[in-house]
Amino acid sequence: MSKKVAVFRKESFNAAHRLNNPDWTDEKNQEIFGKCNLPHYHGHNYELIVKIAGKPDKKTGYVMDMKVLSDLINKEITERFDHKNLNLDTKEFKNLNPTAENIAVIIYDLLRPHIDKKKDLQIRLYETPRNFVEYPVE
Ligand code: NI
Repeated sequence: MSKKVAVFRKESFNAAHRLNNPDWTDEKNQEIFGKCNLPHYHGHNYELIVKIAGKPDKKTGYVMDMKVLSDLINKEITERFDHKNLNLDTKEFKNLNPTAENIAVIIYDLLRPHIDKKKDLQIRLYETPRNFVEYPVE
């Protein structure tokens, strides 16, 4: 089979965050980020969908072994971010605003080195059932 196929793995994690730009006044932060700027943080149930696209392996018929992909996401992403305060407990967001956009890019960068270079990787991250982001953009 030489046709390109995409496979998806869905995982989830819960984390707290606060959106804030330290270069702005409290008023400006409040105006731009609204409730997401509240000083005592708040949580989201993030839904993560990892997409891998490529030609299925001739011997296995797999684009990627889903068990391997699941273990990789758990090790690199879930264990790192689940039940954490992203601003306070993670080095990735110490100086980076933990918006869904930035979280998706960080997740991509954490996974990319562990996935076959011949395969495409795309991250979709749901912050709420209605708000979600994708990276990279196709
Ligand atoms: Ni939020």
